[in-house]
Amino acid sequence: MDLLTAEKEIQKLHQLLNQYNYEYHVLDQPSVPDAEYDKLMQQLIQLEEQFPQFKTSDSPTQRVGGHVLDMFEKVQHEIPMLSLGNAFGEQDLRDFDRRITQAVGEDHSYVCELKIDGLAVSLRYENGLFVRGATRGDGTIGEDITANLRTVRSIPLRLNEPVTIEVRGEVFMPKRSFEALNKVKKEKEEEPFANPRNAAAGSLRQLDTKIAASRNLDVFLYNIASTDEVDVDSHSEGLDYLDRLGFKTNQERMKCKNIDEVLAFVESWTEKRPHLPYEIDGLVIKVDSYEQQQQLGFTAKSPRWAIAYKFPAEEVITTLKEIELSVGRTGVVTPTAILEPVRVAGSTVQRASLHNEDLIREKDIKIGDQVVIKKAGDIIPEVVNVLADRRTGEEIDFQMPTHCPECESELVRLEGEVALRCINPKCPAQIREGLIHFVSRDAMNIDGLGEKVISQLFAEQLIHDVADIYKLTYEQLIALERMGEKSVSNLLQAIEASKENSLEKLLFGLGVRHVGAKAAKTLAIEFNTMDKLASATYEQLTAINEIGDKMADSIVSYFELEEVQELLQELKEIGVNMEYKGPKPVSIEDSTSIFAGKTVVLTGKLEQLSRNEAKDEIERLGGKVAGSVSKKTHLVIAGEDAGSKLAKAQELGVEVWTEEQLIEELKKN
Ligand code: IVH
Repeated sequence: MDLLTAEKEIQKLHQLLNQYNYEYHVLDQPSVPDAEYDKLMQQLIQLEEQFPQFKTSDSPTQRVGGHVLDMFEKVQHEIPMLSLGNAFGEQDLRDFDRRITQAVGEDHSYVCELKIDGLAVSLRYENGLFVRGATRGDGTIGEDITANLRTVRSIPLRLNEPVTIEVRGEVFMPKRSFEALNKVKKEKEEEPFANPRNAAAGSLRQLDTKIAASRNLDVFLYNIASTDEVDVDSHSEGLDYLDRLGFKTNQERMKCKNIDEVLAFVESWTEKRPHLPYEIDGLVIKVDSYEQQQQLGFTAKSPRWAIAYKFPAEEVITTLKEIELSVGRTGVVTPTAILEPVRVAGSTVQRASLHNEDLIREKDIKIGDQVVIKKAGDIIPEVVNVLADRRTGEEIDFQMPTHCPECESELVRLEGEVALRCINPKCPAQIREGLIHFVSRDAMNIDGLGEKVISQLFAEQLIHDVADIYKLTYEQLIALERMGEKSVSNLLQAIEASKENSLEKLLFGLGVRHVGAKAAKTLAIEFNTMDKLASATYEQLTAINEIGDKMADSIVSYFELEEVQELLQELKEIGVNMEYKGPKPVSIEDSTSIFAGKTVVLTGKLEQLSRNEAKDEIERLGGKVAGSVSKKTHLVIAGEDAGSKLAKAQELGVEVWTEEQLIEELKKN
C-alpha cells in the first residue's frame, strides 16, 4: 500500500471507529455488531504498525492502554475544582431557594441533575483534541491521569468543533461492571472493592493503563470549567453544547421553574434511584442562568448557586463489641466503637467514632449493646442510638481511663472542654499523629507517605520530628514492609518536591493549635514569609479579619517556643520553602487600577494573552470577571470573532475595548 492510500485508509478507519464508539458508548445505540468494530480495530492496529507516522493521539487505538507509568504528575487546576454544600431535606432546599431569591430575585430557574457517585475529573481539550485529564486532588492540585482517561470509551479524544475548553465530570463504574469485576476478584481470592466508587477510583489510580482499559469505566460531564469562553448563557444551554461537542452528559436532567418543581424531581428520584444502572448519592440543583450564577458567586469551598441534595442515610443494626481509645495530634483521647462488621450505604463498617465521654453517657452506650448505625453524609459512620430494649444484662458500662493509653501520663479535662487530653508534649502518639498530619493532603501532600508508612518509620525510630522526613534514605525505606524499588524512588521524589510547597501548606502542616487550612492561607497571604509571621504581634494578628483572639494567642506562643525556632531553622537549612507562592490579591482600597471594583467580560479570541492570564491580571488589579454581559457590566474586552456578547454590550451601551487596549492598561500597573 502506498503512503497516500495508507493515510486515507487510516483516516477512514478513525472516522468509522469513532462514530461506532460514539453510538455505542455515548448514545447507547450501537449501529454495528461488536465483531465488525473489532475487525476494523484490528485493521487499524496493523496499518498503524506499518505506517507509524500516521498514528495520532486521538486514534481509537489509543483507547486500549498498554504503557506503564512511573507515577502520576501533579496538575495545577487554574480554575479550582470546588465541592458542593449539602441539603438533607425539604427545609434545607427551601432555605437554599430563599437565599437565591434574596440575591437575584424571584425570576430564576434551576437545573436538577443526578449526583453521580464516582470520581470528579477535569478534562482539557485544545483545538478540539483531548490533551489532559486530571483528578480533583485537593481542589487546586490534582493528578495527571490522561493516559487512563483515554481508555474510557465515552470520553471523546477529539471534539466535533476545534475548541479549547476545560470540562468537569464524574467517572464512574456501572453497577454491572462492578459486580462482574468483584466476581473475578473473589475467584482469584483477591480483596473485592467495597463499592463502585472505590472501584472506579482504584482503576484510575492504576499505573498500568491496560488495567484501567479493562475496567469498563464510564463518564458523565456536568460542567464547563470556565463559562467565560463559551457563547452560551445558561447551564442548560451549556449541557446541550457539551452534547453537540460529542461529550456524554446525563439525560435525566430537568429544568425547573421553581422550588416546588425541584421538590417533585427529588421525590420522583427517591423512588427511581434503585433502578438506575449506576450509583448516585444524591441530586444536584443548580441555578440555570450564568449571569445569576456570577451574581451569587462562591463561598470559600463551594458555589452559592448550587447545592447537593443527599438522600436520607440508610440505617442498620449491629453489635458494639468494644470501645478503643486513641490519642490524637493535640492529645485529645477519642473513644471509638469497634463494631461487628456490617454493610451500610455501599461499604462495610467496623468502626465509628464516639467523639467523647459525654456522648457515650448521653446515648447511654454500653459495651455489648445492639446499636443503630448510619453514615453521616453517606461517608462517616456514626452510632445513631442504642436499642436498650434488646439488652440481656451482660452489657458492660464503659469508663474513660484516668491515664494516657499511650504514655501513661495523667489525663486532664481543660476548662470549658468536653475532651480528655494528654498534655505530655513528648507523648509518642501525639508526635506520630502530628507527623501523619504533616504529610497529609491539605498539608505537605506527600504521596506514598500515608498513615501506615509513617507509623512504621516512627516505630522503628527513623523519624522523630518533621525535619527527619527530609533525611530519609533509600536504604531505610527499602527495608520497610511492602516497599519496592519504584515506590521508594517515587516517595523520595515526592518528599523532595514537597520542599517547594507554598508557605500555607507548611504552616498548616506544622499543626499550630487552632490554625486550620483556611487560616493558614490567610496568614501566608498576609505575611508572605515564615519569618514575618513568626515575629508578628498579637495586635498585628488580630487586626486581620479572620484571625480571632484564641488563634492569635496560639500563634504567638507557638513561635516563642525554642524547639519551634530550632525546627524552623533546620527546615530552612534543608531547603524547605518558607514563602507564599500563590497569587497576591490587591485590595480594592489599595488599587489605583481602573479595574478596581469593576465587572469586566471577556469575549472572542484573545491573541496575546490566554483567557486565564487576562482574568488573573484583571482580578489581581481588583476587578471581577463575569461570564455574561448585563447592565451591571462596566467593560467588555472583545477579541477576534466576538459574537453575541459584543452585540449585547453595544446594545446596552457598555464600554468596549480591544485586546491591545487591555494590554496597554495592564502595562501601566
Ligand atoms: S457540580 C462547582 N454536578 O459531587 C460545582 N457535581 O461535592 C461542581 N458530582 O466533586 C459540582 N454529580 O464530583 C456537580 N451532576 C453533578 C455531579 C457532581 C456528581 C460530584 C462532583 C463534586 C461533588 C460535589
